[in-house]
Amino acid sequence: MWRPPERVRWEPDPGEWPTAEAAGASMLFSPVTVGPMELEQRTWVPAMVPWRATAEGFVTPEVLDWYGRFADGRPGAIVVEATGVRDIPSGPLLRIGDDRFIPGLEELAATVRERSGGHTRVLIQLIDFLAIRRRPDPDKYFARFLEITGEHREKLGGGPGEGLSDDQIREKLAAMEDGELDAVLSPRELESLRMGYRERVTDTHLPHIRELPEVLPDIFAAAAVRAEKAGFDGVELHYAHAYTMASFLSALNDRDDGYGGPVENRVRLPLEVYQAVRAAVGGDCAVGCRYLSDDIVDGGNTVDDACHIGARLAGAGMDFLSLSRGGRFEDAKQPAVGAAAYPYTGPSGYECMPQYYSDDRGPFGRNVEPAARIRKAVHDAGHRTPVVVTGGMHGFEQAENVLSRGSADIVGFARQALADPDWFLKVRTGRGAEAIVCEYTNYCEALDQKHVPVTCKLWDRVEMDESGILKTPDGKRRLTAPKWAR
Ligand SMILES: Cc1cc2nc3c(=O)[nH]c(=O)nc-3n(C[C@H](O)[C@H](O)[C@H](O)COP(=O)(O)O)c2cc1C
Ligand code: SF4
Repeated sequence: MWRPPERVRWEPDPGEWPTAEAAGASMLFSPVTVGPMELEQRTWVPAMVPWRATAEGFVTPEVLDWYGRFADGRPGAIVVEATGVRDIPSGPLLRIGDDRFIPGLEELAATVRERSGGHTRVLIQLIDFLAIRRRPDPDKYFARFLEITGEHREKLGGGPGEGLSDDQIREKLAAMEDGELDAVLSPRELESLRMGYRERVTDTHLPHIRELPEVLPDIFAAAAVRAEKAGFDGVELHYAHAYTMASFLSALNDRDDGYGGPVENRVRLPLEVYQAVRAAVGGDCAVGCRYLSDDIVDGGNTVDDACHIGARLAGAGMDFLSLSRGGRFEDAKQPAVGAAAYPYTGPSGYECMPQYYSDDRGPFGRNVEPAARIRKAVHDAGHRTPVVVTGGMHGFEQAENVLSRGSADIVGFARQALADPDWFLKVRTGRGAEAIVCEYTNYCEALDQKHVPVTCKLWDRVEMDESGILKTPDGKRRLTAPKWAR
């Protein structure tokens, strides 16, 4: 993962822990209304993919164990990981693109309800993503994948109808030094060679990309109806990071069909998806989205764009706006041959999941100031839509300050909840001193990058003889945090 060159090493600083009485009187542990949902407290576990679904996208006992463990700590809400809205293979990621996924998801929602004693609301994040391929072996790329064009022929010296055959061009290209290829291949061909082929929402020459605005509203709406049938309290439309909907919102989207260019056009499909979802689900189902306070890539959305977008989404009636930042493909590191690019490996990835080696600003609360600006823009536009802010939150005072200063309405704790799912219960009951604080090492994120089961370094090798615990296939790591001995 990319890290700021300053390499300033930061330690988490949770500050003072409140007594049970002080926690009870705090904003953090006060209720909040989120559309049709009432959260008991303003704490939120944002979506985190743990790589525990079956290869076909079904819920497993490991998935139930993972969410059940978060539910033990009784946060205000848990958002289940990014779940694919289409009925297409996507590896061990949860899917919701067909009714056959409903029974497993039903069990999942019921597990959260039961293990939290009914105290935690449960939502599911709905995602669409475009195709991405692994970085190819250059020989294979030139022999099989590259489509030979007149431009290659021209640049390599053969005129139309004469000179080099396709096979000769392939051979010539394969024999060239990497640097020489810059003069022959187009930027997209170079990207396919060096990073792996990746579709973009702007590839409107491809019929299935051109028609995204026609098909996505119904696909998301059908997925949301399934979520509602499975018993979820709400859905979070994934409009963040490197995926389809965030790419429509991004200033890099220059589609010329009314869905790209000016921000008013870029927000059009996200609004249409939202409206289709809203029309399809009942009034008891919360519908909100997660989107970026800042794309953190050249030419992408800035906080100003995000302010405008937030006001539009709130104006359309969204029940909440959950803010993340960065996590884009545009600045991702070059993957090894045979691996796919990962959108959390560049500076934008750092902003999404900042780790302990940082710059002078440190890794904690980098999203708070942008969130405050976006919330203000939403309020200035006359809306009171709750804003969720996430990123480096681990202390009670830190979270309470965010709320009392009006920077956000709800605080998201992702890695902190992974490090200690009981953080919420411990702090609420005056036992914050027993909380295990996240060290922001990003050991968990490295596992995510490898697409292997995500665990936390603070607990995945302790109490390994505890009876009945689930472990990784090699038996070396436990899959959920040990029980809190109260
Ligand atoms: C292992 C892992 C998986 C994640 N998966 C998702 C995801 O499915 N959807 C999403 O919007 N964010 C995802 N995130 C980002 C987190 O929700 C969160 O925004 C980020 O970790 C920063 O918050 P934190 O500092 O509280 O961890 C993931 C983060 C981690 C560490
Ligand atoms: S592995 Fe654990 S301590 Fe390290 S960043 Fe992840 S949650 Fe925090």
